[in-house]
Amino acid sequence: MSGSAGRGEFASFPRHPLTIVRGSGAHLWADDGRRYVDLGASHGTANMGHAHPRIVAAIAEQAQRLIQLAPSYGAPSRTAFVDRLFDLLPPSLDRVYLSNSGTESVEAAIKFARSATGRPKVVAARRAFHGRTMGSLSATWRPEFRAPFEPLVPGFVHVPFNDAAALEAAVDEQTALVLLEPVQGEGGVHVADPGFLAAARRATERAGALLAFDEVQSGLGRTGRTFAFEHSGVVPDLLTLGKSLAGGLPVGATITTAEVERRFRGSHQSTFGGNPVVMAAADAALAVLVEEHLADRAARLGDRAIGRLRSFQSSELREVRGVGLLIGLELKGRAAPILERLRDRGYLALAAGANVIRLLPPLVIDEADWEVGIDALGELMGDG
Ligand SMILES: Cc1ncc(COP(=O)(O)O)c(C=O)c1O
Repeated sequence: MSGSAGRGEFASFPRHPLTIVRGSGAHLWADDGRRYVDLGASHGTANMGHAHPRIVAAIAEQAQRLIQLAPSYGAPSRTAFVDRLFDLLPPSLDRVYLSNSGTESVEAAIKFARSATGRPKVVAARRAFHGRTMGSLSATWRPEFRAPFEPLVPGFVHVPFNDAAALEAAVDEQTALVLLEPVQGEGGVHVADPGFLAAARRATERAGALLAFDEVQSGLGRTGRTFAFEHSGVVPDLLTLGKSLAGGLPVGATITTAEVERRFRGSHQSTFGGNPVVMAAADAALAVLVEEHLADRAARLGDRAIGRLRSFQSSELREVRGVGLLIGLELKGRAAPILERLRDRGYLALAAGANVIRLLPPLVIDEADWEVGIDALGELMGDG
């Protein structure tokens, strides 16, 4: 383990006292043989479940042919994935830049917007989470994530989430980009009002700025639609994806328009972006998403669970928020003690800030596992 006592991983984030050796679907097994239900989808990277056989086969097949290739060469697995991705998107979003993580997909969106508009300013939202590299961290809101690393990138401002008037007032002739999560995940699970996203669209069009939706967490079926922006009908100029996009391998994608590409000046690249094995996994992951109707499943399981959670008579529960299988339970007290007790019962869920329990299960989760998990949560919160 990490720490000052000996050699180990750098202790920049808290660790769980568990070593996981195997996964399948929504299940994870620890080294002592105990089975857990992963209600956090390993930070949202397992929408299609752990070790989905179709994704495993695609990885193995591609790894035997070619593992890595400079992104400047063509690769069949990349072409196949990109074609499949565009089939899921509105026609205006027809360019994709490939990278290795969510934060990189946001960095690219910021760079593309600044370059294409020639402007410096980025408008983001309070409670936003966009990643932890210097550009995306500058768009991230929480002071404890930001303060130790200041000065951050200049030009970023934050407006209250779902405050259309504040957003419209912040967007001006210096604005390159408005960057929003259609559902804030890490910031406590807050769903954007469709009117807020529509106001962002209007304000960016009026000012000649670009609009980006960060769907690293909310995308790929999670909210009951392929992309969360579909709930509002507002189409952005840039869309960032990551997490489950390659079925669990590291990936980022920044999707944009031909017009942004035409106006872009400069260069931007990453050695591993579009890696053939990752692309083969991503192609298989998108096939699973579509053919197993995972967005519909998320809508159905999510609606039922949100109804059930809202019926809990618990004095510890302040509010249940969410859409599809992206659900937050805001507590009056701290989330950590309940999460620990839930883990002891065999369920691994996430926090989203100090007071919010976040449920983000694989979209393939077995209905019984999901319902029993929700019941366990109710018992721990003293329902009834
Ligand atoms: C909305 C959003 N954007 C960006 C990121 C950063 O992704 P990564 O951890 O892959 O860099 C996250 C991670 O939780 C996220 O939820």
